[in-house]
Amino acid sequence: MADNKFDLIVLGGGPAGYNAAERAAHEGMKTLVIEERELGGVCLNEGCIPTKTFLYSAKILDYAHHGDKYGVTVTGASLDHSKVVDRKNKVVKTLVSGVGAKMKGAGVTVHRGTGVIKGKSADGFTVVSGDETFTGSKLLICTGSEAVVPPVTGLREAVPEGLAVTNREILDIREIPKSIVVIGGGVIGLEMASYFNSVGSIVTVIEMLDKIAGPTDAEISKILQNNYAKRGVEFKLGAKVTAVSGRKGKGSVSYEMGGKTEKVDCDLILVSTGRRARTANIGLESVGVLTERGAIKTDERCRTSVPGIWAAGDVNGRIMLAHTAYREGEVAVADMVGKADRVDYRSIPSVIYTNPEVGSVGETLDSAKRAGIDAEEHTLALRYSGRYVAENEGGDGIVKIVVGKAHKNILGVHMIGSYASEIIYGAAAMVAREMRVDDVRRLVFPHPSVCEAIREAMFSIN
Ligand code: NAI
Repeated sequence: MADNKFDLIVLGGGPAGYNAAERAAHEGMKTLVIEERELGGVCLNEGCIPTKTFLYSAKILDYAHHGDKYGVTVTGASLDHSKVVDRKNKVVKTLVSGVGAKMKGAGVTVHRGTGVIKGKSADGFTVVSGDETFTGSKLLICTGSEAVVPPVTGLREAVPEGLAVTNREILDIREIPKSIVVIGGGVIGLEMASYFNSVGSIVTVIEMLDKIAGPTDAEISKILQNNYAKRGVEFKLGAKVTAVSGRKGKGSVSYEMGGKTEKVDCDLILVSTGRRARTANIGLESVGVLTERGAIKTDERCRTSVPGIWAAGDVNGRIMLAHTAYREGEVAVADMVGKADRVDYRSIPSVIYTNPEVGSVGETLDSAKRAGIDAEEHTLALRYSGRYVAENEGGDGIVKIVVGKAHKNILGVHMIGSYASEIIYGAAAMVAREMRVDDVRRLVFPHPSVCEAIREAMFSIN
């Protein structure tokens, strides 16, 4: 096979792309990954991982500040944000080189550059990057997503000005802003609001909807909001941002709320109003791949409208989470080699890494109702867990179980409280395996643990 001829070309080396490439190579396919930035994509370089390093430092600071409740007094605790950024860079570098080593180990070729699909020939799909041309019998598109900066007066101009930043630039600022306005109270907005609140910024979150945390169960999102309001985060809900003005260190955001226009001054603005699939300028039209609302249309096997082309990760606009991307990459490769597999979108967990953490999987009562499922929900306070009480003075965490009325099958589990991010995978298994309440009652959970609350909640269901 000629050097530039591959069995599979993967466009984009993020979680979907690099994971799929490794699998494909293990299946014996000669595989190429084309990546224009760093391997690891948004998740590793400017998303999941860097934000977790920030939040971990903030958590240590929070522990120090609030240790009194637990009989520990720490005086003089402080955080050096520049050191946090240095550590973040070190963590990212380590993990990115780990992905590179993975690719090398699996025998995957990595090409640095922007790939553009140019059509199909007898040799397969043609992808051009700079002055190189590659062909692949199969194509997997994993070009990810990018932040949306809404067309608010002055906002787009505020980005080059340094007054407004997205999830990318905020990770490299070296000084803690005295005040920050977060536009959009979704996952990125809340995680960053959490960090900047912990490290001493005055934080205002402006959210268009009447609740934070998007599709999260309404009661849980209210508990999260109350926790942050108590810590001093200001929430403007049902608020529409109308204009942004000023410069870095001296800006202001105007918004309409309840029929009135108000203004808040700030040093910095974080724009976290959602992300859109990166489908532009990659040559989709040259092969006729269909998109829907800007994202590549795929089925549960990650097939696109064109035989021989699959798409995985944020670019398909389904569930923009790295772990969804991993799974989609695997399923796409399985489909390429004729193995039956599919993505079970019902049982994909989601987590908000705030403090307290939120973990959710499956239907909420509302989403079940909308889907016409006859369901009921059962809520248990986490203070039923001894470990939770031992570790959370005044904690108000809960776990909610959503079950089908007829068969008492577990449709969803939603939790706010410590370890929710780690516990939720067990609940995802319950949803994926369509377990019933009785099945979970018979499982043995470790004691004392916070996850026991899930089992306990099962006993409150008749
Ligand atoms: P998002 O979709 O989670 O939230 C955006 C929020 O902005 C929504 O609540 C929306 O109502 C609001 N909004 C939109 N336009 C607005 C405007 N003009 N004014 C005020 N509010 C406005 O998007 P986000 O937070 O940017 O996250 C993007 C993606 O990254 C999501 O798909 C998310 O799943 C993923 N992500 C996941 C994380 C995790 O799993 N822990 C962490 C960070 C990001």
